[in-house]
Amino acid sequence: MEDQWKTYNPNGSKRVIVTKELPGTKWLDILQESDCRVDVGQSRDIVSNEEIKSTIGEKCDGVIGQLTEDWNEELFEALNNAGGTAYSNYAVGYDNVSVDAASKNGIAVGNTPGVLTETTAEMAVALTYSVARRVVEADEFMRNGKYDSWLPDLFLGNRLWKKTVGVIGAGRIGSAYARMMVQGEHMDLIYYDIYQNKQLEKDVKAFAKFLESHGEEPVSITRADSIEEVLKTADVLSLHPVLNDKTFHMITGKELAMMKKDAILINVSRGPVIKEADLVEHCRNNPDFRAGLDVFEDEPEMEPGLPDLSNVTIVPHIASATRWTREGMAVLAASNVAGILNNYPAWEDEDISPFLTDDPPKAAPSIINAQADGVPSNSG
Ligand code: DGY
Repeated sequence: MEDQWKTYNPNGSKRVIVTKELPGTKWLDILQESDCRVDVGQSRDIVSNEEIKSTIGEKCDGVIGQLTEDWNEELFEALNNAGGTAYSNYAVGYDNVSVDAASKNGIAVGNTPGVLTETTAEMAVALTYSVARRVVEADEFMRNGKYDSWLPDLFLGNRLWKKTVGVIGAGRIGSAYARMMVQGEHMDLIYYDIYQNKQLEKDVKAFAKFLESHGEEPVSITRADSIEEVLKTADVLSLHPVLNDKTFHMITGKELAMMKKDAILINVSRGPVIKEADLVEHCRNNPDFRAGLDVFEDEPEMEPGLPDLSNVTIVPHIASATRWTREGMAVLAASNVAGILNNYPAWEDEDISPFLTDDPPKAAPSIINAQADGVPSNSG
């Protein structure tokens, strides 16, 4: 325990475990001001469930964990047995968390929405431009001293202007990405989501009117009836679904074959929505098809062959990695745990920005299972 875990405020009456050091200092202040002793994991490797369980030990009131950890029944049982009532994922996504097991053990589960939206969408945009204009390939070419002469056909890429952008999963991040591409490149938008995104439709239509009033060609928005329609139509397709049984391997060789030969595929959601082996095969056989990936099916591993493909750009799950966002996520995760330990109610508003101010509400900002019987935020 000594080297791998650092203790702050050792005499705090409650005990909170944070499995990784987090950016900024505000999160630690929030926990310490709530009279918590805070044990923070120092290892940069994935912390095993065995180690988490032994660190929870006999007394632990709350935990802030990472998306790389498997928060299953065994861990929530251990937390419950140690007197714990609060867990927050340091992420907006929580496919690594068994929320049912947490609810069963009376543990509130928090996540960190609202501070990642534009940041993550920006990475999807960055990957879109990188692959469309072959930035990484060209950078490598320069660094290898291969630039001998300007040439008319050197690194020809794809133009995005007024093409069609497809989005699967038009929630917060998907619709932020869509707006950036529609407004920046005047792209037509086709989206698939089980829910209609009325605000997005309104915004794109308003932008179309604005363009028309300036004598420019309008953009359009279509809500597709099927994923197939999006696959066949999009020049650029960005994936933003949550990962669950329905979206696991949503994109396999069959779906890739429906896409245009020179389409661009972007994924900043979760790796397993794409069957990575099929993507490798498809990119190998279709050199004009390009992909930009922030997430991988079996992170941190990659499918053999993926790193050898010059038509794929890969980054290590950093879409939310701006200082502001990561510090904001830390504040939200700490406020979730401290809020529950202070018996505050769960915040019901989607706007979490008040928690980023110096006078935050007395609430837990984002509790996923707030409605579950026995979860403490109900009684707050
Ligand atoms: C999340 O929050 O779910 C991202 O994948 C990491 O920031």
